[in-house]
Amino acid sequence: MTRYRFLILNGPNLGALGKRQPEIYGTSGMDALPFLVHKVLGDRTDEVELSYFQSNSEGALIDRLEQAREEGMHGVVFNAGAYTHTSLALADCLAWINVPCVEVHLSNVLARSEPLRQKSYIGRHVIGVVAGFGMMSYALAVQALVQHHEKE
Ligand code: DQA
Repeated sequence: MTRYRFLILNGPNLGALGKRQPEIYGTSGMDALPFLVHKVLGDRTDEVELSYFQSNSEGALIDRLEQAREEGMHGVVFNAGAYTHTSLALADCLAWINVPCVEVHLSNVLARSEPLRQKSYIGRHVIGVVAGFGMMSYALAVQALVQHHEKE
């Protein structure tokens, strides 16, 4: 039944979701995602298989992205956390692996007070960005990846 295998990839400080600054990042953790994906995909939920990985380290994220390429993953939903705004190394990785990637953020980074959060190094190498919907950002990104594969 599975047609699409997607990697949900979380960067630094996203291992404590639900506990970390809940006023900004919300009170739910990644365990809320299957329910939200079902809300968005309905009957088609079974067509999607999700794998999860989180690391606080830039190198481990790059290794996991390279592995996603080798595994022939159909897409990556990537919240790179603060590395979004700093990491040329992650941008370089996304530039060559040729796996469709959606950049996600729980918060609306464009509306936050620190100007640096409005810059994304990885944004040039993703098919789109979803930000500001809490955990629903991830579910919408999953839907966007399905749509991406079916647009032709
Ligand atoms: C974040 C936004 C980033 O600016 C921040 O460094 C994070 C989380 C978000 O999901 O809103 O760690 O990516």
